[in-house]
Amino acid sequence: MHMRRWTGSLVAGLLVLGVGRAAAQDSTASASASACLQPDAAMAKRGQSLFSNRGCVGCHSIGQGKRAGPDLAGVTERRDLDWLRRFVQNPTPMFETDSVAKALLAEYNNTRMPNMRLKGDDVEALIHYIARESHKVGRGASGEGKCAE
Ligand code: HEC
Repeated sequence: MHMRRWTGSLVAGLLVLGVGRAAAQDSTASASASACLQPDAAMAKRGQSLFSNRGCVGCHSIGQGKRAGPDLAGVTERRDLDWLRRFVQNPTPMFETDSVAKALLAEYNNTRMPNMRLKGDDVEALIHYIARESHKVGRGASGEGKCAE
């Protein structure tokens, strides 16, 4: 039973990856193409410590409202996964080239999220944590039936 579910989400994950890559060609697609990420428990746990150790928590809440940066609840469905990975990895160049990042910058009074200098697997763990917390506060994709089985 468990094994089948796991395989199912792996396949869905790979599909999402493929779609994300295609959508990345056009950065304006990011806002509409929503991601569907089933958070992995171990990854989310690692992401949780990174979120506080790396200082994300100083600028972001997940479900408690805006701080210096946006409330990240639901961000894994409002952006596509590939966009999220690129942004968390290093937002700096995107403020010049990406329409969504530019709009965020304007909305947040030109406060630039710094390049947090994360490793790729740390970025991934953080995204799993944000997805898990979003689900908890009812803003996760699966909560709204957006994850096709
Ligand atoms: C100094 C404050 C600051 C820190 C530290 C910070 N951010 Fe941000 N973040 C922002 C701001 C401000 C924005 C909105 C875009 C902008 O103006 O830079 C943002 C945007 C984002 C977004 C996109 C939100 C959306 O609505 O699309 C994500 C995801 C994100 N941050 C994740 C993180 C993670 C993960 C960390 C820790 C590794 C982190 N941030 C650390 C300030 C910060």
